[in-house]
Order: sequence, then C-alpha cells, then structure tokens
Amino acid sequence: MSKETFNPTRFNKSKNPSFDEVLDVHLSRRKILKGGLGLGAMATFGAFGLAGCNSSSSTAVGSGDTPSATLNFNSIAGSKIDAVSVPEGYTAQILAPWGQPINATATAWQDDGSNDAVDQNNAMGMHHDGLHFFPLNDASTDGLLCVNHEYIDQNALHPTGTDADADGIRSSIDQVRKEIAAHGVSVIRIQLQDNGQWMMLDTDPLNRRYTGATVMDISGPLAHSSKLATPFSPDGSQARGTLNNCGNGYTPWGTYLTCEENWPGYFINTGTTTDEQDRIGLDTSGTTRYGWETLAGNAAERVDEFARFNVTPTGATAMDDYRNEANGHGYIVEIDPYTANSRAVKRTALGRFRHEGCTFGTLEVGKPIVFYSGHDSRFEYMYKFVSEKMWDAADADPTDRLAVGDKYMDQGTLYVAKFDADGVGHWLSLTLESATTAGGTLADSFAALEDIILNTAGAADLVGATPMDRPEWCAVDPITGSVYLTLTNNTRRDDTTGTNPANPRLNNKFGHVIRWDEGDAATDFSWDIFVFGSPADGDADTNLSGLGEFNQFASPDGLAFDKRGIMWIQTDNGADEVKNYTNDQMLAVVPSAIKDADGNADTINSENQGELRRFFVGPNGCEVTGFTISPDYTTMFVCVQHPSNWPYSTNAAEETPVGVDLRPRASVVAIRKNDGSALGV
Ligand code: FEO
Ligand code: CA
Ligand code: CA
Repeated sequence: MSKETFNPTRFNKSKNPSFDEVLDVHLSRRKILKGGLGLGAMATFGAFGLAGCNSSSSTAVGSGDTPSATLNFNSIAGSKIDAVSVPEGYTAQILAPWGQPINATATAWQDDGSNDAVDQNNAMGMHHDGLHFFPLNDASTDGLLCVNHEYIDQNALHPTGTDADADGIRSSIDQVRKEIAAHGVSVIRIQLQDNGQWMMLDTDPLNRRYTGATVMDISGPLAHSSKLATPFSPDGSQARGTLNNCGNGYTPWGTYLTCEENWPGYFINTGTTTDEQDRIGLDTSGTTRYGWETLAGNAAERVDEFARFNVTPTGATAMDDYRNEANGHGYIVEIDPYTANSRAVKRTALGRFRHEGCTFGTLEVGKPIVFYSGHDSRFEYMYKFVSEKMWDAADADPTDRLAVGDKYMDQGTLYVAKFDADGVGHWLSLTLESATTAGGTLADSFAALEDIILNTAGAADLVGATPMDRPEWCAVDPITGSVYLTLTNNTRRDDTTGTNPANPRLNNKFGHVIRWDEGDAATDFSWDIFVFGSPADGDADTNLSGLGEFNQFASPDGLAFDKRGIMWIQTDNGADEVKNYTNDQMLAVVPSAIKDADGNADTINSENQGELRRFFVGPNGCEVTGFTISPDYTTMFVCVQHPSNWPYSTNAAEETPVGVDLRPRASVVAIRKNDGSALGV
C-alpha cells in the first residue's frame, strides 16, 4: 500500500534496547554462527557494511554447488510516464485488470464506473497485489492465477466517487456491497495463445472470487474458540471475508496463501476496547476506513452484513453483538486453487497481526516446515512459524490439499525475531512457557495459546522482539537458503525511539533489505544487511550501498526469488529523492553470485552495484507489487497497483496520450521476451 494512502501508525509502545546500547557492539561486527567465513573476508563499506551471511558450510540450505543464473539485460533508466518500461526485446501485456468479468454473470467492465455489486462479485477485484501462477498439467502455457486485491479507490470504483456524507455515513447499499466485493482474491484460468498473448478463460469452472464477504473456515488454535463466536458463527468455526490482502505466499502442496494486512481499519469499537484491540490499533471513534458499518440496520441489510464491522459490545453476550467479528481477521488464509468452490481456511497458528506476506523456508524431508511472515507497521516484528509435523515429500502432490495444510499449518510454534549486535539473532518462541523480559513467562499475561495468537504483537512485546522498519515481503534464496526481508521505510525512527543493529538508520526514508541464515538450532540465526535503498546522489551516510542512477531505489516492498536464484525487488516509494527520478520499479539481482575477491558472499557495494539492475518501471502513480513466473521462466506476472492514468491499451508499455483521462485500473502485467525465451538471462 502506498505511503500516500496509508499511514502506518506506531502502536507498539514497548521499550526496546536503544541504539546507544548496541552500536558499539554492532560495529565490532557480527559473530559467525556457522563456519565458512573468516573475519578477513568481511567487506567494509559505510558504517554498517557487513559481510554476506551466506555460509558455505550451511546445513539446511542448498549445497552451494548449484550454478546461479547470470543476468543478461541492461539496467533500464527510470521513467515517469503513463506506461510501463521494460528492457529492449521485452513486451508487457495487460492481463486481468480490475473489473474484467471472470464468468458469464458479470457484464463487461464500463469505463464510467457503473458496474454494480453483482458485476463486481463476478469480476476481477481492485488494487491487485500478491499473485501466484499454478500450472495445470505442469504446463507453462496453461494454469490458474491467484491474485490478491488489497484495497480500493472509491473514486475509480464508482461513477462519481463515494456516497459518504461529510461524517462518513454511507447511503448506497449497492456501493458498499461493491466495495466489499472488490476486496479479496481472484482465481482465474489463463492460457498463452499462439500469438504470444495471455488470455483469461472467462467461463472456466475454476474461476472464482473470494471477497470481503465470503464465508471461510477457521483452523488452528482459534478454531471453535469462544473468542471467535459471533451471531453468524456461534461456535467460532467460521469468519466472513478476507480483507486487505497484500502480500501472498504459496505452499509446497499446491495451495495459495493470501495475507490479511491492514484489516484493523475495517472495524470500529466505540465502547470499551480490549488489550489486543488497543495494541493492534482498531478505530475507536468516527467511522471505519470506508464506513461500511454505517449502513447497519438498513432495511435491506442481509445477515448483519454491515453491522458486523462495528465490534462495539452493546448486548449482554457475544451472541447479541459483533464484538468478536474482528477476531476472525488478521490471518494467513489458505486457498486450494485447483478445487472448484473449495472453501478458504484461515490458519490461525501462524499468528494474528498485519501479515504482509508468507514464505516457506528451505524444505527438507524429515524436518519441520518453516513459514516466515512480517508485520508491516512501524516498529513491528518479524515472525516465523515452525510446523510440529515433519515434511514428507509424498505430501507434495496430494488429493486433498487443504488436509495437508491442516497437517503442517495448524500445529507448531510461532517465534518472533530478536536481532542482536554482531549479526547474531535469536528466534523467541511465543508459548505460555516463553520467558519474558520482565523475568516471568507469557503465562503471567495470557491464559492460553489462543490468547497469545489473538494478541500476537502484544506477546512479542513481552519477550523482547526487535522493532523493525516495517517488515514487508520475505523471500528464500533457492541456491543458498538465505532468507531475505524488505524493511520498507520508517521515518519515525528518531532519537527518541532509537535505532538498533538491524534498523540502523534514523529517519529511514529509503528502507533496506536484511537477510539471515538459520542456525543449527531453530532459535539461532545470523544476519546482515544486503542492500540499503538510497538516491544515487545521496551522501556517504545515505548511499551506503553505492547505488547509481541505474539502480537507485527506495522503499523496497515486494520481494521474490525465482528458482534460478534471481531475486526481484519491487518498490512502493514515497520519498521524493528517488520519486523525482523514477516511478516505482522492479530490480533484479543474483545474491548467490555476489561475492568478494576471496569468493565469499558479499553485500551490494560500490564495487559490484552493476549486478543490481532495474528491469521494470511502472506507470505514474502506481506501486509495483506481486511476482510469479511460469515454470519455464518465459512469462513473468507482476501487478501494477493504483496507477493514476493507465492502462491505455492491452500493451502495458503504450503510453496514455496527453489529454486522455482514463478511469485507472490495477492490472496484472505479463512480461515476455519477444523471442519467447527465458526472462532475465
Ligand atoms: Fe500492503 Fe505492506 O504493503
Ligand atoms: Ca508497502
Ligand atoms: Ca506491500
């Protein structure tokens, strides 16, 4: 979500070690947890330059013998036009923009905003974000695309903007239903045509929408909890809708993971709030973000479809109001794309917070599966979930995919990251027995695991997690097993809040990408900072990674590896220093090939910055987000979210002519080489 449209308020009030306490230790450099790197191999650039954390002696990661891909395109210049830019020899096609019907029920998208809620319920949602391609019959030309729809632009969604009055009170039921339907996830069948263009099969039986109103199952520690009991689901087994679906993930067994990010903004409690509501930051006055709850009690309301967004306790019990409705949100949601009409499942064991993404770690037979997920808000934390069950390769191709999800995602241990000085890190468990910094255990503050899950961030405060500069997407290097995480920015990190080794910059306008290697124990890791965002003309204290015109970037957000070891970094930038040069963009780098003179893993610095290359620039106003690639690497799908005056035609690189004023549409962009060969290399 762009800086312009969302203000990630600091709700975390916990006390953490100050910069002064750790700086000296940090500068003495990190300790290597795993062998293979000597101190002499460490790079020195800038105050925070550290050696790469990839170790040749890794235990759980790739052998290091797999050759990395070599980038074979020239970094493109920045641009600021109503069109996308790709390297020479590449094409970019518009695919499945907002409002395109996915079945015969919806009428065609109208450029005057006049499509109604029924149309929207049967068409692509708005503001595309994370996405994943699921091949059919292992094909690279035929598959299912799952696409997140993070939020909405009411001005583009409706003919003349919203019906809300000056107090935010809504009057049009159809408008509000349309807004709810524009959220969530789309599942669509797509095929590559002989002409090199992708198309949606708009009547395929696997096409479907999961919206802000779709009934979903609750699984894991909070399933059937009284904390989730509502008049709609008295036994706490179901929740309605998924909201603010930002980053995504997928599983080794062929399911899609959609992540509920800024869901608190959709609920309001004007009465007595709970600790966890205070901690996560629910609205307590005025109206919610879009005012859906203001239609509560309307004569045409169905099954409290609007009333449920007001979680103020007004009745005698949870059966008399919707006090627990928000407790059904804030999760990782699993969808089986291959099974028509299958119900989505909310996996509560992975914690409840503003999930940005969800990425599984290196798979090993006989070892637990690890899922990483960041909490995107200022001073929030990085989490990992470790499954109780050990990975069985036979589960990679199951007949019942969601049953495999039950097996690996419903029982396990949730951890939160503590980044210490010297590149040492610790995963702190979040169980009743976990030690708190106050000298007790979480059992002093929580009665049961379900309470810890419900207030995951509050529990993480108590164990001493490290407050980060807005954890966004996470990605795992298939060559080395190192885990990379974008920390998009944090302009409120100041002398009062202090810095810490992992978030070392005051007023962090430009963000950075941190990485770590898991240690032999599930609780240990080693880390360093791979690259710092910066304008090319930033001073030595700012441009710590030596970026130049052709790779300067700010506010890294989307992050993904393809299986060749290419890491793709996408931006959601609001910092003028870079914005004045280019719109949001996507860069590529092969981290496993970034080595120093001695052959040890290195970070991005002035000597090697040519290896970090700009591959794609989005149109004016947009954010570039979401990444997936066909198994043969010949088509890459990314999303362009909230463009201002685009797309003009099916060619995403065709500029909107001067004087043409379009109703903007977020879209998937399918990028291919003109010769149909593998991308990027
Ligand atoms: Fe929706 Fe954290 O970006
Ligand atoms: Ca963002
Ligand atoms: Ca994002």
